[in-house]
Amino acid sequence: PIGMLRDTLARPLHDLRISVTDRCNFRCVYCMPKDVFDKDYQFMPHASLLSFEEITRLARQFVAHGVEKIRLTGGEPLLRKHIERLIEMLSRLRTPDGRDVDLTLTTNGTLLPQKAQSLKDAGLKRVTVSLDALDDANFKRMNDVDFPVERVLEGLDAAHAAGLGPIKINMVVKKGMNEHEILPMARHFKNSPFILRFIEYMDVGSSNGWRMDEVVPSSEVVHRISTEMPLQAIDANYSGETAQRWRYRDGGGEIGVISSVTQAFCQDCSRARLSTEGKVYTCLFATRGHDLRELLRSGRSDAEIAGAIAGIWQARGDRYSELRSEMAADSANATRPKVEMSYIGG
Ligand code: GTP
Ligand code: 5AD
Ligand code: SF4
Ligand code: SF4
Repeated sequence: PIGMLRDTLARPLHDLRISVTDRCNFRCVYCMPKDVFDKDYQFMPHASLLSFEEITRLARQFVAHGVEKIRLTGGEPLLRKHIERLIEMLSRLRTPDGRDVDLTLTTNGTLLPQKAQSLKDAGLKRVTVSLDALDDANFKRMNDVDFPVERVLEGLDAAHAAGLGPIKINMVVKKGMNEHEILPMARHFKNSPFILRFIEYMDVGSSNGWRMDEVVPSSEVVHRISTEMPLQAIDANYSGETAQRWRYRDGGGEIGVISSVTQAFCQDCSRARLSTEGKVYTCLFATRGHDLRELLRSGRSDAEIAGAIAGIWQARGDRYSELRSEMAADSANATRPKVEMSYIGG
């Protein structure tokens, strides 16, 4: 029956991550390095993008199948024109038992100063903001477009003032790049309304030249912070949560660590990803997606689309992060083409 989809490893379908654009105004060195994403890079032509009507129609079928959380991503989702209109449309979706969908968005925060309130008014529930450094020079080195950190901090405040919380902050930690910012970031966001999460640098895509020795294990992050500001592990909010949660023992709030390299969480992974051009990816590291745009544009019925989604999920067996160590030893797999994070949406 509808709402009871399980994949081949008995994992339910719970989250849908929708990428609304493959463009970004940053060139983070670990995600869209400038030498690859230069002025000659071919971004997707407009006709390839799903329209808001198409996205909403697909999302409705996913929600009918049990999706309770929708996250808009990119690229930078706030660069998609009239994104508020899409948010309005998605905010009207209801789960089979009549509840609102948890509608959220992951952004680099650059457009939040001017957009936070209109996003809230359109029906967005909360935002997650990527922020890799507090030191301005270091932040500029990482975004590689000379964007000042001050503006992102203003964006955070604007999102908080608009009521887009609880707001999470994602910091990708890469050795030799920003690991010295772990403690300053933790100190800065302790006793604040923001939940800081440290993400292990991952081997997504094919252009960031990932190496295992550039990963700072989450256990080390927790150890470093806890030495100065004692931490205590707390329970997950829901099964399949990406982050492990830790609270400051003195009541100063909580942090999270996302350890997809050193402690894979594929076992409970309930996330489907919809690309900008309408392909479903059942794993962040998938090499190929399933084309739903073709079904939309060839006049298939909702029932046919729902059936296709069910078939894709029921055939799913992905657990890339769990297999990573074995695969890395196999050079054929290590060099297989993977989709870029900016395309599939983190
Ligand atoms: P909340 O639980 O609502 O906070 O959302 P989330 O953690 O699912 O979403 P978010 O976009 O904040 O994800 C944080 C980061 O975790 C992403 O940017 C990725 O780096 C990583 N991540 C999210 N989902 C997956 C996944 O399925 N597999 C792997 N390997 N990494 C993931
Ligand atoms: N490893 C880990 N996280 C990454 N992100 C982008 N590229 C990587 C990577 N190689 C993060 C961004 C953002 C989220 C969508 O994904 O910083 O927080
Ligand atoms: Fe843009 Fe986010 Fe990728 Fe940075 S990590 S280039 S902000 S999509
Ligand atoms: Fe899910 Fe794939 Fe990430 Fe594992 S590697 S948690 S299966 S998206």
